[in-house]
Amino acid sequence: MGVARFALCKIASSTLPRMHHPSALRKMSVASDLKNSTIFRSQGLIGGQWVAAHDGKTLQVNNPSTGEIIADVPFMGRRETNDAISSAYQAFNSWSKLTATERSKCLRKWYDLIMSHKEELGQLITLEQGKPLKEALGEVSYGASFIEFFAEEAKRVYGDIIPATLADRRLFVLKQPVGVVGAITPWNFPLAMITRKVGPALACGCTVVVKPSELTPLTALAAAELALQAGIPPGVLNVVMGNASDIGDALLESPQVRKITFTGSTAVGKKLMAGAAGTVKRISLELGGNAPCIVFDDADLDVAVKGALAAKFRNSGQTCVCANRVIVQEGIYEKFAEAFSKAVQNLQVGDGFTEGVAQGPLINEAAVQKVESFLQDALSKGAKVILGGKRHSLGMTFYEPTVVTDVKSDMLLAREEVFGPVAPLLRFKTEEEAIRIANDTNAGLAAYIFTNNVQRTWRVSEALEYGLVGVNEGIISTEVAPFGGVKQSGLGREGSKYGIDEYLELKYVCLGDMNRE
Ligand code: SIN
Repeated sequence: MGVARFALCKIASSTLPRMHHPSALRKMSVASDLKNSTIFRSQGLIGGQWVAAHDGKTLQVNNPSTGEIIADVPFMGRRETNDAISSAYQAFNSWSKLTATERSKCLRKWYDLIMSHKEELGQLITLEQGKPLKEALGEVSYGASFIEFFAEEAKRVYGDIIPATLADRRLFVLKQPVGVVGAITPWNFPLAMITRKVGPALACGCTVVVKPSELTPLTALAAAELALQAGIPPGVLNVVMGNASDIGDALLESPQVRKITFTGSTAVGKKLMAGAAGTVKRISLELGGNAPCIVFDDADLDVAVKGALAAKFRNSGQTCVCANRVIVQEGIYEKFAEAFSKAVQNLQVGDGFTEGVAQGPLINEAAVQKVESFLQDALSKGAKVILGGKRHSLGMTFYEPTVVTDVKSDMLLAREEVFGPVAPLLRFKTEEEAIRIANDTNAGLAAYIFTNNVQRTWRVSEALEYGLVGVNEGIISTEVAPFGGVKQSGLGREGSKYGIDEYLELKYVCLGDMNRE
């Protein structure tokens, strides 16, 4: 096993004064403790070995809250990815031949280890991603739940017997693992987006090469270390990171990789889909959203405020299912805007390790600039900021939780995913108009409605062109329900009993000549 290369205390000079803050000091000790933890890894994992890049190149992992360099990890590319693919390909031979019970036991052990390291994993997520520790701990449980769920599902991959059309034949359908899977995952959920893919893949006998985001690789490496500790054999789970396009190309071009699964932007998803055509790979895509959150006049105001707040400001607005447009009926608009702004004002912004903080930093400067440009576009077209609207006085990439009224459908804020803590409020008159506005987008991941009318609940849920609908609830993700989008929000479903199908091929077997003695 390689020794973690750790550059904990190199601090960008511009951030030095911040390190005297008590929470910054606490964070440094959290980081030092993590460094000594058995789950801390800062090399790639290929064939069960912790390895550096072949040319020794590294990339820095930063804490978005302070700019502190947490670690250097290998900057890998095609060569290491091809090695990882070969290891996964080799490991597939034996892993796919284990019984479902054997694979299930390994996954269950992995789940237990993730849960017994919940605190450290949560701290690692906060350190490299920035989300508040409470939310990070929630992500660990959420992430682990996919491993537990698919440990159970491993034992339920049933085939079929089809009534034969000829008397001397027997017809079967077998379900078999697709083979080596390339899993490309984002920074906003450094653990859960990996486990949601790797859980079902491993459960049914696939082996995996994971490429986590270069912004948050440490959680992925820690999870992989726990997978080894759980007895998941070398080569079954590999992790490479570095040059994203080289790694992506190697995964796409290899005929040994039979499936690509990706969570991230729609633009990258389209490239992967085109790239997968070269070797006709299976592909699952969980891409961007533009979630409408429709508040009807008949909604319970408190429920709507609480739900919209959760749907919008989870992870500082940095999830694909975050409410991107809060569409409010005219009769409740003013009351909702006031109550919602009050609730948003109470959200404490700060470092994720500080008690009571509900909003961490955005992931990087580009994310803040995107928020700024979207807001500028809206203001230039007549929208009004009623709360926030600028960078937070904490500096770095902290942004004030923001509420904007008088937003119109042609503004960038309503057309594209802002991926930040800005809630644009749009106004509508009728149910038909709300549905038209909500569906007027190429995205189709999550939608939310707030109403107390049962018939409307059914009508609107059926009319919304989205893969997930929350009714009077802003947080709807769970391992037991299918997660995924329609239109340009993606292909396939993750989680639930349907999630494992993405990693299985159907094989029809026709047994003839049955009457022969
Ligand atoms: C995402 O933002 O892609 C995932 C959010 C979730 O699982 O709830």
